[in-house]
Amino acid sequence: MCGIVGYIGTQAASGILLEGLRKLEYRGYDSAGIATIWEGKIQRVRAKGKLHNLQSKLIGQEMPGQVGIGHTRWATHGKPEEHNAHPHADMAQRVAVVQNGIIENYRELREELKQLGYEFVTETDTEVIPNLVAECLNQMQRSGESEQYYSPFTEAVRRVVNRLDGAFAIVFLCVDYPDEIVVARQQAPLVLGFGQGEFFCASDIPAILPYTRAIVPLENGEMATLTPLGIEIYTFAGNRLKKHPHLLASTSLTMEKQGFKHFMLKEIYEQPSVVRTGLEAYINRHWTSESTSNPISLGLPPEIYTDLEQIQIVACGTSWHASLIGKYLLEQLAQVPSQVHYASEFRYAPPPLTASTLIVGVTQSGETADTLSAITMEKQRRANQSAPFRPRLLGITNRMQSSLTRLMDCAIDIHAGIEIGVAATKTFTAQLVAFYCLAIDLAYRRHTLSPTQLEQLIQQLWQLPAQIESILETQERQIEELAHEFAETQDFIFIGRGINYPIALEGALKLKEISYIHAEGYPAGEMKHGPIALLDAKVPVVAIAMPGSVYEKVLSNAQEAKARDARLIGVTPINDAHAAEIFDDLLPVPNVEEWLSPLLTVIPLQFLAYHIAARRGLDVDQPRNLAKSVTVE
Ligand code: AGP
Repeated sequence: MCGIVGYIGTQAASGILLEGLRKLEYRGYDSAGIATIWEGKIQRVRAKGKLHNLQSKLIGQEMPGQVGIGHTRWATHGKPEEHNAHPHADMAQRVAVVQNGIIENYRELREELKQLGYEFVTETDTEVIPNLVAECLNQMQRSGESEQYYSPFTEAVRRVVNRLDGAFAIVFLCVDYPDEIVVARQQAPLVLGFGQGEFFCASDIPAILPYTRAIVPLENGEMATLTPLGIEIYTFAGNRLKKHPHLLASTSLTMEKQGFKHFMLKEIYEQPSVVRTGLEAYINRHWTSESTSNPISLGLPPEIYTDLEQIQIVACGTSWHASLIGKYLLEQLAQVPSQVHYASEFRYAPPPLTASTLIVGVTQSGETADTLSAITMEKQRRANQSAPFRPRLLGITNRMQSSLTRLMDCAIDIHAGIEIGVAATKTFTAQLVAFYCLAIDLAYRRHTLSPTQLEQLIQQLWQLPAQIESILETQERQIEELAHEFAETQDFIFIGRGINYPIALEGALKLKEISYIHAEGYPAGEMKHGPIALLDAKVPVVAIAMPGSVYEKVLSNAQEAKARDARLIGVTPINDAHAAEIFDDLLPVPNVEEWLSPLLTVIPLQFLAYHIAARRGLDVDQPRNLAKSVTVE
């Protein structure tokens, strides 16, 4: 996690760095800091907590310099205190660095430096890095070494990054080389931006987008030197690389709340348009059972489909929940055996290799370290195998310029637009749309649904944006009032079955991550095998009970909870008299086919979590201990 940014050019660096950090704050907000070089010295200002603390500290304080680096932190090593905040400097204050990642061998490196007389003032893994560069520069100076192709500073960084184990992106400053920034990437994102006489680097594109659309993403094992004259890129082995910047399409990137109290609320309200955009991108809405072409056009290469026998999906968090629904659709609509894995577990216990398997990586950010590592491992595992075992890799992501898309053979863009709230909402529904499209695409190719069934499904899908709109328009006030009754509640249980079981998991995750209330999602039928012991009058139970194959069963399970005094809240179809008798409170949604119901049933649960957290006065968009993009394993 952590967001890093660097600037070199002719403008005052500090303002550009702060604005860049504002765009990167979703990556961590335990502390923030910037450093510039001015009058031969490193100027460093850091503050514990969110970026506004750093901004307040800078009021009335001069921070000159046209070269600088900035950091917003998600703490890994060392408490979120000011002394552990980046940028970190070497003992002599000559070199400053910001880092995103983890240096796994920092203990050995620190011991080595201590033997040489270096002293450390933080508990971070990062502090070894500027000291190693300083030591390397000293050694090069003592031995009279000079580099012909690049500066001693770049050479010192090159030698140091070759000694670091782990995943990292680092930006370096050195007072002896005030016209240079050096950067290095190993399994953590870093993009370079090319302006007119000014150059940028950052963990993510939005930080540099106000200044340039010409970018080069660095790859693993690559480093670069930025000067006011341009950027040179090298491998860690020191070989120069020729890379041409590509121009990003000019899309509007709205990062404002637009009148909503929180980004999360705005993003909940964006869902009708996000779902519509996804459908428009991939489904022919005029398709009928008479049509002779595929209703879906995902633009994937034919090899993805050839002799497909199995799908393995890897993901984390909310993307994992979307994938569980994806598995349901792929198996039930297209009859493709599918498995969903937590990416963080897959790497250490991969399933036995199966032939003709499609690996699907699902990550809205495209930068989740666990997901990227799992896919990298699987790609390597399959690379040397014979034909049916070779890797075929499909990504589902909201960031087509991410590390994920560079790793995969192809990707489906979920077109959700940037999501700022740490709790995923619109990207979840957008991922579901991608899975519906993939499942229908496969069902058409494998003839597992009749043309009439396909036509009905497509027509019903197109009604969903308006149905989501109707929930947003009619339900928020009522859910807000209900939420106020739960501001002091300590535990919640969410239950669902079949395709709505993952919605129970997602409802529980939304509640716990932003309200800090303990919540569990269970398959409704599993409650009686143990968790029902948790129930009493103090533990509300939210049941998702939509008509279809499991409706009666879920209602029975809900009644079993009621018999234990639990207060029952039902996500049920509008005007369902039977449900009205059973539940204490109703969160009604339009009555749709069971297949499609997750796209509706999740909406009241997002509102419920949001309003409980808001009522508790919590920071909904930046909940404690979390970050939007989890780039450490
Ligand atoms: C969701 O609300 C989360 N904050 C989190 O679980 C997230 O879904 C997870 O970290 C995966 O992120 P990704 O989709 O960017 O890979």
